[in-house]
Amino acid sequence: MDRNLPLNLARVTEAAALASAKFLGRGDKNAADQAAVDAMRRMFDTVNIDGVVVIGEGEMDEAPMLYIGEQIGIAGPHDLKVDIAVDPLDGTRSVANGLPNAISVVAIAPRGCLLHAPDTYMNKIAVGPKAKGVVNINNSVEENIRNVAKALGKDVSEVTVTILDRPRHEKLVEEVRKAGARIKMFSDGDVLAAINTCFSYTGVDILMGIGGAPEGVIAAAALKCLGGEFQGVLHPVTEDQRRRCLEMGADLNKVYTVDDLVKGDEVVFAATGVSHGELLQGVKYLEKDMATTHTLVLRAETGTIRFIEAIHKLDKKPEYAK
Ligand code: FBP
Repeated sequence: MDRNLPLNLARVTEAAALASAKFLGRGDKNAADQAAVDAMRRMFDTVNIDGVVVIGEGEMDEAPMLYIGEQIGIAGPHDLKVDIAVDPLDGTRSVANGLPNAISVVAIAPRGCLLHAPDTYMNKIAVGPKAKGVVNINNSVEENIRNVAKALGKDVSEVTVTILDRPRHEKLVEEVRKAGARIKMFSDGDVLAAINTCFSYTGVDILMGIGGAPEGVIAAAALKCLGGEFQGVLHPVTEDQRRRCLEMGADLNKVYTVDDLVKGDEVVFAATGVSHGELLQGVKYLEKDMATTHTLVLRAETGTIRFIEAIHKLDKKPEYAK
């Protein structure tokens, strides 16, 4: 995999973040998402890859751009054939409501290496490198928390579990409280929440709960680069979703590990903050048509973790002007 590709991916997620951040708090999640999609798609046209979208905005008939199966990149005969997973805006509601933790995110791996996850829910557990190997999604919540506490050299009362704030997680919340750990709820964006477990200064140790399966593949790509652990079990909620999972050859009882979701170690990943978060700052608008972005860039082969702070001159990029 070209070692400069991750930096080009940063351009792709920066473009989407700059475009969608204009809609912060404006109450229009569709406009924020559309701006991210358009900008991301445009920037992909400058990247030398022979890519196919495997995780994207939906099927071809429901999404005009970045749909599953779409060919992406300006491919020459020597360019690597890759799978692309995108979420131009993970946290559309967060941006619309002016809330934190929205990101624009992309992961790329050689062709055939990213799981084509059905558009359904997935029950997930994620931990950082220090707690790798001690969790099992089929264990009780209490046992997982106890094992993570031990691996981190903490008391159970010092462990923080981060959970997507949804009514479906009432029982999970009760179980975490009963185990004696802390809870940090978040309103949207479980890709970033999973990544946060790999950085102790974000103050979260474990992600638990049900979110989107496509987001699970993207989170697994990041956690592979970061040396963390991710496990997911598909969780269709309607008969239609269940049928779709089975049609796609998915196993509803299987615990999908990082290696099942993302094969090999040639994966690269980039995420740019759209609204403010613990790990990534959101887009900030400065005086004189300038804006800053904060991007996390990862490469599994070398394990390099880069944070890129960029200052963008918006008068030279009129499409992102305020
Ligand atoms: P979008 O911004 O793409 O809508 O996704 C936000 C998100 O919070 C994901 O991070 C998460 O996996 C999923 O929605 C959870 O789905 P739901 O909102 O239906 O609980």
